[in-house]
Amino acid sequence: MLRDKHIILGITGGIAAYKSVQILRLLRKAGAEVQVVITPAGKEFITPVTLSALSGKPVVSEFFTANTGQWNSHVDLGLWADAMVIAPATASSLAKMATGVADNMLITTYLSAKCKVFAAPAMDLDMYRHPTTQRNLLTLQQDGVTLIEPADGYLASGLVGKGRMEEPEEIVRRMDEWFESRGELKGKKILITAGPTHEKLDPVRFIGNYSSGKMGFALAAECAARGAEVTLVAGPVQQNTPQGVRRVDVTSAREMHDVCVAEFPAMDAAIMCAAVADYAPESCSERKIKREKTGEMTLRLIPNPDIAAALGKIKTGNQRLIGFALETDNEQANALDKLRRKNLDFIVLNSLRDPQAGFGKDTNKVTILGADGREQPFPAKSKTLVAADIIDFTL
Ligand code: PMT
Repeated sequence: MLRDKHIILGITGGIAAYKSVQILRLLRKAGAEVQVVITPAGKEFITPVTLSALSGKPVVSEFFTANTGQWNSHVDLGLWADAMVIAPATASSLAKMATGVADNMLITTYLSAKCKVFAAPAMDLDMYRHPTTQRNLLTLQQDGVTLIEPADGYLASGLVGKGRMEEPEEIVRRMDEWFESRGELKGKKILITAGPTHEKLDPVRFIGNYSSGKMGFALAAECAARGAEVTLVAGPVQQNTPQGVRRVDVTSAREMHDVCVAEFPAMDAAIMCAAVADYAPESCSERKIKREKTGEMTLRLIPNPDIAAALGKIKTGNQRLIGFALETDNEQANALDKLRRKNLDFIVLNSLRDPQAGFGKDTNKVTILGADGREQPFPAKSKTLVAADIIDFTL
């Protein structure tokens, strides 16, 4: 899977840098094109001459190449790469990555990279265990970095414990596995709903909710990245359409219902992530509703169609239907009730009581419940990683 892939190999200043040579050799052997970016401290452990000879490219380390004065563009490098692996990743470099301290070429490249990033931490066991390092690692995971955990064993300090960089073969295997997962949904058609619905009251007002669309758009991006043909039915949101995704914009629950019912028969799966209004005003005034001098005003609401339940009714044996449940109390019981009533295969439960979950956040914390009785809780992660978990578990 690594053949012809563009890989940035980031090397920081740790004793495990000698193993980076083996990572470079394995990547090259697998057919990848590798650009080494090394920190100034990294060069104390391994020479750029060795790395450029093995990669077939000049090693990048400084913002400017001293003898020519040429500027090394971290932006171009970030765009060039299909994946980036930082191995070894020292405590200091991990901290800079987590907090955006862009004081060397490697960290600026990391911040510019749009591709998948792997990091293989390597340090002494007490540094690894330290709450600061653990906090930084959690931040990086939430930012979508895949950590290749250090192994237990003899450390350069003479101590024994966790902190030794994972073996090069395992690091390259994990990268290969990730590239392989990219094509796993090829040939599948997936319908995804995202965002809120707006139910119009008059030309200037509506009933809506706080959904930003982030969770649904992350699902669409991840399904598309894995090769699926994605139709994203989006309520009114300010989100960029992920690459390769067909987007259908709607405003109301009724419009979302009509698009979904028409599209679903051609789909292999549907993921209902939108926060759909359960009620809409009975009528929409053509003119702006004026304040009544007499005081109170009564609004009559009528139920909207339940889109997930409508798809549950027409679902065939070959189709998967996945819903979400956004709860504030009796979370599990309410989610299971929705799973059954709407004839879903899975329901993704997130609770508004959880500070890392819900509307507008960049993170979510979910438990996936299956119609077959399976139940899988996940820790808080970025919505991108939550999307990957949902796809791994349900599709
Ligand atoms: O968009 P973000 O800001 O990133 O926030 C993400 C999210 C909180 C919106 C998302 O994670 C989420 O929980 N979405 C579902 C919200 C919701 O409306 O849940 P619900 O429990 O009310 O509905 C249950 C299921 O039925 C959902 O799959 C919903 O899409 C669907 N439904 C609900 C009502 C309706 N009339 N038709 C439906 O299809």
